[in-house]
Amino acid sequence: MDKTILCIGAGYVGGPTMAVIADNCPDYKVIVVDVNAKRIAAWQSETLPIYEPGLEEVVKRARGRNLFFSTDIVAGIKEAGIIFVSVNTPTKTFGDGAGKAADLQYWEKTARDIIEHAENDKIVVEKSTLPVRTAEAMHRILQSNTKGLNFDIISNPEFMAEGTAIDDLQNPGRVLIGAMENASGRKALQTVADIYRCWVPEEKIKLTNVWSSELTKLVSNAMLAQRISSVNSISALCEKTDANILEVSDAMGMDPRIGSKFLRASIGFGGSCFRKDILNLVYLCEFHGLPEVAAYWEQVVMMNDYQEKRFVKNIISHMFNTVAGKKIAIFGFAFKADTGDTRESPAIYVSKLLLEEQAVLAIHDPQALEYAKLDLADCDGKISYETDPYKAAEGAHAIAVLTEWKKFRDFDYEKLYALMEKPAFIFDGRNLLDHQKLFKIGFNVYPLGQKALSHL
Ligand code: NAD
Ligand code: UGA
Repeated sequence: MDKTILCIGAGYVGGPTMAVIADNCPDYKVIVVDVNAKRIAAWQSETLPIYEPGLEEVVKRARGRNLFFSTDIVAGIKEAGIIFVSVNTPTKTFGDGAGKAADLQYWEKTARDIIEHAENDKIVVEKSTLPVRTAEAMHRILQSNTKGLNFDIISNPEFMAEGTAIDDLQNPGRVLIGAMENASGRKALQTVADIYRCWVPEEKIKLTNVWSSELTKLVSNAMLAQRISSVNSISALCEKTDANILEVSDAMGMDPRIGSKFLRASIGFGGSCFRKDILNLVYLCEFHGLPEVAAYWEQVVMMNDYQEKRFVKNIISHMFNTVAGKKIAIFGFAFKADTGDTRESPAIYVSKLLLEEQAVLAIHDPQALEYAKLDLADCDGKISYETDPYKAAEGAHAIAVLTEWKKFRDFDYEKLYALMEKPAFIFDGRNLLDHQKLFKIGFNVYPLGQKALSHL
């Protein structure tokens, strides 16, 4: 059996996923390649290209033993029998389906690289998140090779979340593997399942047909995002009725049919995938003549946009209807805690809206300042980026908490209050802080979906 694995795409998924495979499967050789030479150099260095708790230890254990990072895609294709493809699949920005459909150009490019350089049969594994029935198109492209080679397409979507990627990969809720329903497909399915059997219990390995696997990935993200939009919609109603969203979420979550996870109200979900995957689902439904289904899912994204806007509107209205010229300290720019990733972070949208209102921004984040600078590079207005939260708050009229970094709880809020203009406001977009304590210090506190604590 072939025990050399290639992964094309050394990003947030390719890097950690392959590191965990190599760590758990010493009998396999795992090569991770990318067109981005800078990224590969970082994977080979002491400073990995992504911040992910626990990742460094895993990489250090396996790198140079059976885990290798390289830019030599051609050599990798020639050598490996199993090729995972984990390239990016962003929303299309041009032509038919622009703004919704998945842009598959990077995926197709890898398929063409594989055809050009393969010298023997391969198993090609869809690790990227793809529209349902992509395997069909990929199979056609790959089988068009004139070398008489056979390619089996396997769908093996990834369910890890950033910030907890290593634990998610080490102890997955399930590993989903889908294959074409023919003899060669079934054999390839077992070959891929064997990799995971090195550390994942059999009952967690779910084998399906390839279309179910592709679709399950899109729908899982849509269902998770739908829970957040549902709870966020109710946070708006809580603010009108003095119900408390934390109590509502807790009490709802006690029903095992509902479950307690993913019911945290927030300024909105971010991250590179929820939005793009739902929009892709919407596009697929429209494409297949299901406008009612498409509209149902599109509402999840619309509610997210509404929540981000609502948060900014609240800031402006509570700060006497103007933030022009007022300094606002932004605590947290990453799309969630424990990552430096800012892709689709609600902080980008919130910051842009505040800048349009001529607020002066001082942004503090423990991991994401470099990406924040890039995200806001084209914005007019005054922005500073502060590694010191106290410097960010100096002379500020308000603090807006946009990411749920736990360390924000440990800041000295008496000191922060003393440094700020008065009246001093805190808008807690993550319900992270101790609101009673802040109120006692003197802050006017505006949590999400809870009664405001105001001295005004
Ligand atoms: P990413 O942008 O971090 O990484 C993709 C990498 O692929 C980049 O480094 C890019 O240079 C490389 N690449 C693109 N085209 C290439 C080519 N032709 N040859 C070689 N390398 C190429 O993206 P990501 O966050 O790792 O996501 C990858 C896929 O996984 C997406 O489909 C995404 O939806 C899915 N996914 C992401 C997450 C997540 O948490 N980020 C979780 C589950 C699934
Ligand atoms: C999400 C899914 O959780 C993963 O299963 C999936 O593999 C991944 O997308 C993907 O396909 O990319 P991720 O985006 O990394 O993972 O992080 P999540 O923990 O899902 O958080 C997403 C966003 O929702 C964050 O902005 C987070 O702050 C927000 N969120 C999450 C809430 O606002 N409330 C919650 O209760 C939970």
